[in-house]
Amino acid sequence: MDVQALYQPFSLKSLTLKNRIVMAPMTRSFSPNGIPTADVAAYYVRRAGEVGLIISEGTVIDRLASSNDPDVPHFHGQQSLEGWKRVIDQVHAAGGTMAPQIWHVGVMRPHASGWMPPAPFEGPSGLVVPGEKTGTEMTDRDIGDTIAAFGRAAGEAKRLGFDAVEIHGAHGYLIDQFLWAGMNKRTDGWGGATLPERSRFAVEVVKAVRAAVGEDTVVILRLSQWKQQDFAVKLAKTPEEMEAWLTPLAEAGVDIFHCSQRRFWQPEFEGSDLNFAGWAKKLTGKATITVGSVGLSGEFIAAFQGESSHPSSLDELLRRFERGDFDLVAVGRAILSDPQWPTKIREGHSEQLRDFTRDALATLY
Ligand SMILES: Cc1cc2nc3c(=O)[nH]c(=O)nc-3n(C[C@H](O)[C@H](O)[C@H](O)COP(=O)(O)O)c2cc1C
Repeated sequence: MDVQALYQPFSLKSLTLKNRIVMAPMTRSFSPNGIPTADVAAYYVRRAGEVGLIISEGTVIDRLASSNDPDVPHFHGQQSLEGWKRVIDQVHAAGGTMAPQIWHVGVMRPHASGWMPPAPFEGPSGLVVPGEKTGTEMTDRDIGDTIAAFGRAAGEAKRLGFDAVEIHGAHGYLIDQFLWAGMNKRTDGWGGATLPERSRFAVEVVKAVRAAVGEDTVVILRLSQWKQQDFAVKLAKTPEEMEAWLTPLAEAGVDIFHCSQRRFWQPEFEGSDLNFAGWAKKLTGKATITVGSVGLSGEFIAAFQGESSHPSSLDELLRRFERGDFDLVAVGRAILSDPQWPTKIREGHSEQLRDFTRDALATLY
């Protein structure tokens, strides 16, 4: 199949991309004390030439317990923001386009090193997994401050010159903990039996981000049905539930839904082969990004456990793309292990594609 379809430009509001390939957000933990170093800038610059849009690793907002790792970059504080300014200026100079992924981890297990954030982990009900409380249940004030901190981070992104902003609402982190009935047991206005009720926190975050960046800057929201705590969870079990979930988020200001799956080819609901990004686009009319094992044989959680992946065909991806299921394609590990991946695909050099092995996680090349 013709990969050139992926190399057509994309334009939405003030965002113009040279092609449809997005570097997926990937935590690298190479920013000591939350400050992105020159090595972090060089890592993104190596990918800026051929990737349409770089989405940064998750970078945490201004809350004491927003991170569970001392080497994850902050998106607040003078030194961290100066580090990000160097990143975006160098990415632009190399011809790239970039959005930060703004993040709050919610209630997590402590980091392997034993490091703990300066305040207890916080979430809708303090649960680290359904049924196990290890963190703090957020008060109304905590919630309001957190929404405001997301807004401030988005405003900083715009001030520094980033081209768009992505909100991390996926994978069982804070925003997703509010969405998920297993983790959100609140009986006030931030919880509820239905997904639209539990979406209120996400909606308010989107509104705060939109208010901070204005109408013309693209806001991306990353969502997933699956959770790191439980791969089998599905927030929306039918297209109707998905529509009731996504429509208020679209109305609050999302321009692009970034629909995270571990394997992009898996259908979301019975009776159709559409994946999450396909349904999100069909139901909301918004642009979507698909992601999950593009160009690789194995999925990413297994990669953390040491499983290697081999290059695989893009035919199924292209079939769906050409059918109009999604607008953009995010690629994680293939671009992490090989900055030249988009060029090799475009030029048809499949014999030069590399396997993904766990070693790639340990360096910032
Ligand atoms: C090392 C690593 C770190 C990741 N960190 C993040 C992150 O910070 N935020 C996020 O939304 N997803 C994160 N992910 C998930 C990726 O964005 C992507 O969805 C996943 O790797 C599937 O894409 P792939 O199969 O092309 O690698 C991470 C993945 C990897 C491999």
